Amino acid sequence: MRDAAPQTIYLADYTPFGFTVEEVHLTFDLAPSATRVTSRIRFAPNPDATDSTFFLHGENLSLISARIDGESVTPTLTAEGLTCDVPNMPFLWEAEVQIDPAANTALEGLYQSNGMYCTQCEAEGFRKITFYPDRPDVMSTFTVRINGPHATLLSNGNPVAAGDGWAEWHDPWPKPAYLFALVAGELVAHRDTFTTSEGRHVDLALYVRPGDEGKCAFGMEALKASMTWDEEVYGRAYDLDVFNIVAVDDFNMGAMENKGLNIFNASAVLASPETSTDMNFERIEAIIAHEYFHNWTGNRITCRDWFQLCLKEGLTVFRDSQFTADMRSEPVKRISDVIDLRGRQFPEDQGPLAHPVRPESFQEINNFYTATVYEKGAEVIRMLKTLVGDDAYAKALDLYFDRHDGQACTIEDWLAVFTDATGRDLTQFKRWYSQAGTPRVAVSESYEDNTYTLTFAQSTPPSATTADPQPQVIPLAVGLLAPDGSEAMGTQILELTEASQTFSFPGQAAKPVPSILRGFSAPIVLDHGADHAFLLAHDTDPFTRWEAARNLARTSLMNTLTKGTVPDSAWLDGIAKVLSDDSLDPAYRALMLGLPGQSELAADLHRDGHIPDPDTIWTAVTNLKQALSDQMRDDLADLYTAQQVTAPYRPDAAQAGKRTLGNAMLSLITRQDGGDTAQTQYDAADNMTQQLAALANLIRAGRGDAALATFEAQWKDDRLVMDKWFGLQVMEAKPDDAADTAKALTGHADFNWKNPNRFRATLGALAGHHAGFHAKDGSGYTLLADWLIQLDPVNPQTTARMCAAFQTWRRYDAIRQSMIGKELDRIASTPNLSRDTTEMITRIREA
Ligand code: TRP
Ligand code: ZN
Repeated sequence: MRDAAPQTIYLADYTPFGFTVEEVHLTFDLAPSATRVTSRIRFAPNPDATDSTFFLHGENLSLISARIDGESVTPTLTAEGLTCDVPNMPFLWEAEVQIDPAANTALEGLYQSNGMYCTQCEAEGFRKITFYPDRPDVMSTFTVRINGPHATLLSNGNPVAAGDGWAEWHDPWPKPAYLFALVAGELVAHRDTFTTSEGRHVDLALYVRPGDEGKCAFGMEALKASMTWDEEVYGRAYDLDVFNIVAVDDFNMGAMENKGLNIFNASAVLASPETSTDMNFERIEAIIAHEYFHNWTGNRITCRDWFQLCLKEGLTVFRDSQFTADMRSEPVKRISDVIDLRGRQFPEDQGPLAHPVRPESFQEINNFYTATVYEKGAEVIRMLKTLVGDDAYAKALDLYFDRHDGQACTIEDWLAVFTDATGRDLTQFKRWYSQAGTPRVAVSESYEDNTYTLTFAQSTPPSATTADPQPQVIPLAVGLLAPDGSEAMGTQILELTEASQTFSFPGQAAKPVPSILRGFSAPIVLDHGADHAFLLAHDTDPFTRWEAARNLARTSLMNTLTKGTVPDSAWLDGIAKVLSDDSLDPAYRALMLGLPGQSELAADLHRDGHIPDPDTIWTAVTNLKQALSDQMRDDLADLYTAQQVTAPYRPDAAQAGKRTLGNAMLSLITRQDGGDTAQTQYDAADNMTQQLAALANLIRAGRGDAALATFEAQWKDDRLVMDKWFGLQVMEAKPDDAADTAKALTGHADFNWKNPNRFRATLGALAGHHAGFHAKDGSGYTLLADWLIQLDPVNPQTTARMCAAFQTWRRYDAIRQSMIGKELDRIASTPNLSRDTTEMITRIREA
């Protein structure tokens, strides 16, 4: 059905709903194309509200009957919901609607995936299930009866009773409708138990399709580890008798924190050594933790309205990053997060889609589940913790849980807790929530009479939503190194609050070398012409030491791209030393070896006034890798061999780190031996990490065809592994072949384009292949636009997200801009384009 004309919603317009909901009873009579949903809802006038209009959201619902206090009523229906005259006192609303889960390809509301019923209600999907005030500040207890001929019938909360063909659930914790969930199907359970610190016995289950039982153990362990961690670190225990997770093949995002019934994209929970890479294991552990942590930060304390999304998402991402740092390696996690932030959030913050961590307007809220809300939102909390200190952070969080349990809150509530716990005025800090854009901090220095002085100038470029950014509070972690490499001053937190600010460090016998932005203490761009080679050799902070390597690589690449110079020996020599340093964690060494992303280099060139050429960037990066491979030629085999793991496969950080470094060596070796070692590794591999890395090298070496065929034969029945097969061929294609490769794959019998994982694996890989997507002939742009136009009527949410591939278009030359502009016009002029995609294309075009 066609969306109504786009309407903009403003934070400033918030008003409470005119009614409270005392309790909700739902009955589902499941049938693929004609599911009946009967609701019995007790409403009462809300004393805090001024507007008493009785409006219930509802979309694509066939209303069968409606009653108030038992009397039949005839509501006024629109495409968005209904209004009805109601008594000025508590009343019982009863309605029966019919919906069509089998026809629901948007994967929002109640839908079917491989015959299994499941729901996705965040953000505004519950209105596709029944008429309801579908807004997060309306909270209620839910009792749910499911009638259906299925072995597994699940909803939120605790099981009440069940019989042949039915089950009843009750969730005693008041919750907004976006946390509602229902699952029905022929599933198998992997079970375990957990006893909380409060002595509550909890039955845990991970429900999967028959055949996937062998992929559950890791996720279950991750769940128990998350439950323990939240008790130990945040003092938060679980609060129901059961905790269920369900794996679903068709899902728009990673996973969803529905109370007591988390629903997961199968790719975010199912794991086995044979089918999952080390990276998959780490991601699964993090997502399980993330959804579990939402039980407190999101569910017990939720958001007043969707503008406050970062209240739950920023905090929960921050919590899951702390968890991963504790479970694995803190520096490796921090560096990986920064790479991710620069790869996904910086382009957003510096382009036409820029918006504050707390947006102030939107047309389609699904378009604001962004790297800015999630990842920058987490960075803002990290800064807050840095500024107030660990103890005050813990105190503030205790106060937050005490004061706001059971409430739907705002960023004002969140900051008030910190102000009340610490006495600190956070008025200026709050700009991190209201201003878009990445602050840049320029550094200058002087040294005189044993006093070293650093001057910092901060500025944020204006953006689509923030015309005139004001100075922000920037915690800068700074240390000083003496000329001999020893530490002259340990880490101090400097607080920038002004546009320009100077800090003096007396008592320096010699001019020190500054190490600035240790631990990446703020999400900024630092302009700093430091002695990176010195820092790479001597810095004691693992982040800034890694950053020094990255800066040397960047300088080498930028010089090649702007002046045509050959690869820089400062990077080559520095890296060669680090790589052979066995005292360093292999995972850390592998990170040291990484180069800035090609899209990131394009952004840097653009910022410096150059027009980036994707082919030239691809060549420069390829040549730099070749130069490192040539320089290290004699050491590669030993380094590779030293990382081989002989013990049985474990997905832990220690083993994974060795495989990561070993496979980084493999790609340098492949540049010398044309893929012989990769073929040997491929043939011997007994786990997906080794198999997939070998396959990538074979493709890159131009001899992947045989292995691709055996891989397909081996894994054709495993969807998640076949996603890798689809994606890898595009990712490893030469720039000129990437679009053709993707296009050919879309003709493959297993290219099920309605499945978001498969669509993303193939076309998302093209969008992520910088030189391939931006191929001179425009074939990448046309192919992506063709598929976005095809997917939009089926799944607007996934279509809209992938439009972001075009967000950087203004960086490129006039010919590319004109080709992209035409594709954007073509998408925009598609009849009946969804609200989701319309909003994205409009924002991107208005740049
Ligand atoms: N709240 C989910 C999370 O943990 C995000 C999510 C899952 C979502 N499915 C969605 C958001 C669908 C919007 C639409 O991060
Ligand atoms: Zn989340």
